Amino acid sequence: MSEQDKVFIFDTTLRDGEQSPGATMSHAEKLEIAGLLDEMGVDIIEAGFPIASEGDFAAVKAISEQAKNSVICGLARANFKDIDRCWEAVKHAKRPRIHTFIGTSPLHRAIPNLNMDEMADRIHETVTHARNLCDNVQWSPMDATRTEEDYLCRTVEIAIKAGATTINIPDTVGYTAPRESAALIQMLLERVPGADEIIFATHCHNDLGMATANSLAAVEAGARQIECTINGLGERAGNTALEEVVMALKVRNDIMPYQTGIDSTKLMNISRRVASVSGFAVQFNKAIVGKNAFAHESGIHQDGMLKNAETFEIMRPEDVGLQATNIVLGKHSGRAALRSKLAELGYELGDNQLKDVFVRFKTLADQKKEVYDDDLIALMQSGDAEADHIRLTALKVSCGMGLEKSAEMTLEIDGKESSVRATGDGPVDAAFNAVKALFPHQARLQVYQVAAVTEGTDAQATVSVRLEEDGKIATGQSADVDTVVASVKAYVDALNRLVVRREKSGGDTPEVSYKDVS
Ligand code: KIV
Ligand code: ZN
Repeated sequence: MSEQDKVFIFDTTLRDGEQSPGATMSHAEKLEIAGLLDEMGVDIIEAGFPIASEGDFAAVKAISEQAKNSVICGLARANFKDIDRCWEAVKHAKRPRIHTFIGTSPLHRAIPNLNMDEMADRIHETVTHARNLCDNVQWSPMDATRTEEDYLCRTVEIAIKAGATTINIPDTVGYTAPRESAALIQMLLERVPGADEIIFATHCHNDLGMATANSLAAVEAGARQIECTINGLGERAGNTALEEVVMALKVRNDIMPYQTGIDSTKLMNISRRVASVSGFAVQFNKAIVGKNAFAHESGIHQDGMLKNAETFEIMRPEDVGLQATNIVLGKHSGRAALRSKLAELGYELGDNQLKDVFVRFKTLADQKKEVYDDDLIALMQSGDAEADHIRLTALKVSCGMGLEKSAEMTLEIDGKESSVRATGDGPVDAAFNAVKALFPHQARLQVYQVAAVTEGTDAQATVSVRLEEDGKIATGQSADVDTVVASVKAYVDALNRLVVRREKSGGDTPEVSYKDVS
């Protein structure tokens, strides 16, 4: 593949993605996702924002130490302290990168109260400083798509002259459209001296649902790095989804003759892992990785598929790592069969982990005759109970027409069991009231969602719960053949994540503002 045809994939799931409210990941989870990204062929991994917290710093440093092939990048605002901290974290990587940025649009210039000349000086000083530390420096004019063209050209030129090797053009608020996205890159390539010596990147948010189209349009105009996240995770409506750009470039190579180095057969696995650790379930109809992306419901479609799969499929399920779903395990299946099936689904388990999952699998197999791949995936996404502060240990609900709805519950909170009986408008309401009585909190329930994993009345229910407390958001997920049990477990999972968030913001880890440049 020639340099001209190669498009670098820059994944920011662990930075921009993790920024999405409620998507906080643990240190171990970040390392695991970074390992999968590296293995899949991601060119650059943005591992975090080292100045943001001790936790972010530690994660970026550990990811830098573990990375085999990918460039490891950290984010820094336009000040020396951020840049130094970023370098301290990424310098351990075989191939480190510093990514520094400042908001250049009129709205963003007003926040640090810098005029155009002052901001230009700041860009020169900070990019020069970064380049003195690291020979791989990326610079971003945040809100580029709403920055005056002349000023954008001026700042990009300054950053290139100061040594930036990649210039990223963010559509921070998801405002641009494909033709405009292409025109902006073309304009920069034509007008900015030195533009042909650096790589232009595109970083699109999805507020109008155009992020992937905007990224691809930028590539057609000359950008050679796409910034994206797994499952499109990210602030508000998220970012360009990695799996979408990779498959679009692969399937429509006839009209977009560019290559990525991504092994697409790893897409489904990493999508599931990110959904699991971030608590953000993938919508069923999401392109490429949604549960329905390869499902065929109508008779005409099913008939066509049986005769020739190409009638209704433009890519094969195997291309994204999807195995044909079949009945896999039952209550007589042993540990080895479970381990091997989980490995096939992308979950490599250590002995201790397998022990815990096997117990949960046996319980499920006793309740359900046929255990499908999707059941196992839901089981794996049901959280790691051992690390939790709060655990559901017993639940009995009573409900029915004209009867009082009540829940008798026992929770183990930091190793100590307590029980209560509560009532409510329905069984789930009664059970949630019992949780509140045993673990009093002010968190507001923002989302409560139930979906069946497979067909039939014995199907497991997956439940997602989203809580908000003092601006902090936490999401929880669980699955069980008993919908009320799944609901309480998801609620408890969200509370556990909220407790972690409370602990994080209570220590020496002040939340940083993107606007704070000085
Ligand atoms: O969306 C954005 O502008 C960003 C920058 C920090 C690059 O994420
Ligand atoms: Zn962004």
